[in-house]
Amino acid sequence: MSEQAVRNLVVVGLGLIGGSLAAAARERQACAHVIGVVRREETAQRAIELGVVDEALTDLDALKGRLGKGDVVFVSVPTLSVRGILEQLKRILPESVTITDGASVKGSVQRDVCAVYGAMPSQVVLGHPIAGSEKSGVEAANPELYIHHRVILTPDAATGDAHLQRVSALWQQVGADVLTMDVALHDEVLAATSHLPHAIAFSLVDTLAHDSQNENIFRYAAGGFRDFTRIASSDAIMWRDIMLANKPAVLNAIDLFLDNLQRLRGVIEREDATELTGVFTRAKAARDRFTLMLSHRAYSSSMSNSESQNVTYVVSPGGKAQGELRVPGDKSISHRSIMLGSLAEGVTEIEGFLEGEDALATLQTFRDLGVVIEGPDDGKVTVHGVGLHGLQAPAGALYVGNSGTSMRLLSGILAGQQFDSELTGDESLTKRPMNRVAKPLAEMGAKIDTAAEGRPPLHIHGGQSLQGIHYDMPVASAQVKSCLLLAGLYAEGKTSVFEPAPTRDHTERMLKGFGYEVQRDGDVISVQSGGTLKACHIDVPADISSAAFFLVAGSITPGADITLTHVGINPTRTGVIHILRMMGASIDVLNEREVGGEPVADLRVRYAPLKGIEVPEEQVPLAIDEFPVLLVAAACAEGRTVVTGAEELRVKETDRIQAMADGLTTLGIECQTTDDGIIVQGGQLQGGEVESYGDHRIAMSFTIASLRAQDSIVVRNCANVATSFPNFTSLAKGIGIPLEVLSD
Ligand code: S3P
Repeated sequence: MSEQAVRNLVVVGLGLIGGSLAAAARERQACAHVIGVVRREETAQRAIELGVVDEALTDLDALKGRLGKGDVVFVSVPTLSVRGILEQLKRILPESVTITDGASVKGSVQRDVCAVYGAMPSQVVLGHPIAGSEKSGVEAANPELYIHHRVILTPDAATGDAHLQRVSALWQQVGADVLTMDVALHDEVLAATSHLPHAIAFSLVDTLAHDSQNENIFRYAAGGFRDFTRIASSDAIMWRDIMLANKPAVLNAIDLFLDNLQRLRGVIEREDATELTGVFTRAKAARDRFTLMLSHRAYSSSMSNSESQNVTYVVSPGGKAQGELRVPGDKSISHRSIMLGSLAEGVTEIEGFLEGEDALATLQTFRDLGVVIEGPDDGKVTVHGVGLHGLQAPAGALYVGNSGTSMRLLSGILAGQQFDSELTGDESLTKRPMNRVAKPLAEMGAKIDTAAEGRPPLHIHGGQSLQGIHYDMPVASAQVKSCLLLAGLYAEGKTSVFEPAPTRDHTERMLKGFGYEVQRDGDVISVQSGGTLKACHIDVPADISSAAFFLVAGSITPGADITLTHVGINPTRTGVIHILRMMGASIDVLNEREVGGEPVADLRVRYAPLKGIEVPEEQVPLAIDEFPVLLVAAACAEGRTVVTGAEELRVKETDRIQAMADGLTTLGIECQTTDDGIIVQGGQLQGGEVESYGDHRIAMSFTIASLRAQDSIVVRNCANVATSFPNFTSLAKGIGIPLEVLSD
């Protein structure tokens, strides 16, 4: 038997929480023997009949002399009865027995333990399973209750390691995720997320039930009332005890809520429709995020961002590439539409918005900065602009997930605000260089603290007065250029940026669309502060960076014929078309037109044998995001393709030169990396298992590679495809790629 294994599990109190742990421990053989202790003989009988316990007692003293090392006593009685039980346990249990509990408030139990034992003894491990239902009593015992639910343990310095390990292992064996937390923090968090909602539900039903004008309320109660008040039928005594036990934290939470409700009352009284939309859209967005989180793991991601779903693509060979499709909206333009719409005066309507994680991160950030944003709803977003000086201090850090564009462009805007802010992101973003924006912003007078080596998070100090500068960009980066132009809106005088090679100019075009003057003099772009942005209508074209996967699919697959509609063909983005055409691809640009200041066309691509080329360096910034899939084209081409001047690829969502070289090599293609590029020798793609390193574009590129592979390709770590191309798999399947998505 292992050090942590539990021999006897004694459960004191067989309500929903205790009964479910007993039943689960029995079913999963998490211990040798389960003993239930209850007050009433009938409950003891019933627990045996239901198979919840092996043995049931009505007197705790009967355990005297029976328990020792390896035994666990779980106390699961109403919070205010805990103390009496502890007094009894102290009399009958040796120090070797582990004692734990399941009370919803930890501070009061900690006080009880200290009162009974004099101090926290090493054998006591306080805990709280975050699971439950409005049902109560031993009949409600459910052995599945804890699966994928969190259990918070609140050990302190006195807690014995072996006791802690034993309790932790017990919970894990019944399917729970265990985490530890400080007692005070636990009680604050639970006051807000559990105790307050229960207080409100009980109070609402009580109010309505006693209001004579509402005597028919229950008869006509709609689904909303039913859903909202479900928890008001929870165990009344248990909840009475919880409210009293966690009094200070519950009172704080109630005060905060009353303030907010009072404010909402004022908004309705003033008939402030915009603000009302703001409150409801913010709440809806938060609830939708929570629903998503719940659907992938109950309660799992509520306190950390680290658990992203594991998604694997399995792509069989022999796929086709045929049909007409419209890929989602342009990522760069979607980001900018939210940013400029927020800073504009008036209401901006956006169509074709990319509902991918990156652009949604920007949208959420501006909500956090106080902007009222409706949608997205089928690509439609309405932004109630607050003007250049109308953003409000956010309540906490601004989290932009995987999105480098959000972080870099936002840093320019936030540097010009009166309030402090913090920008954070996911693990990949946390490794990406931010000095490229932090340094020139500092030259303008901004105050920004970064983590070591200029990495995120960024702490941006507000209230600085920015000065316009001229900046010679050492790398051709649209993100850096855009960041500085946006900061320039807040800087005194003129801000100008020299770009060593042309980069995407969506910021400049969109600023003009919002009525803000932007000058271009050769390679130098400048703005002058003092203007205003006027709300407008934005139609986001389909993203050429997403279309690129299908341009390559069409080019490498014999018999292929694909038409991609409404694709943005801004000349600063069309490197992929030029490069593929140089390789011999057959791409027709049809129905060229202009939509909202951006050129758009339909692209028809048909199979044509490709040959290797030396990619002209001036095309690199114009196809910067398309290199992963262009290297797949190179692998299918005859001869050698040489990429140089592309060191930027090493600091994207991952080192894309290395990631592609690794995968292509696994698939039997000869490649050689260099500091600033790669040489790929065209050949026959084999099957194999490749790693995307969590980079969306690497994952999609290897999916396309399957069209010319001899065997299946398994692509690992594909969850981030949702950052830029949420419906990639359905469109890929739609054109004939045999793709299976596995997730856990
Ligand atoms: C982007 C610019 C590019 C690109 C990124 C989006 C933008 O980055 O790789 O996906 O929206 O401005 P750099 O400008 O840093 O090369």
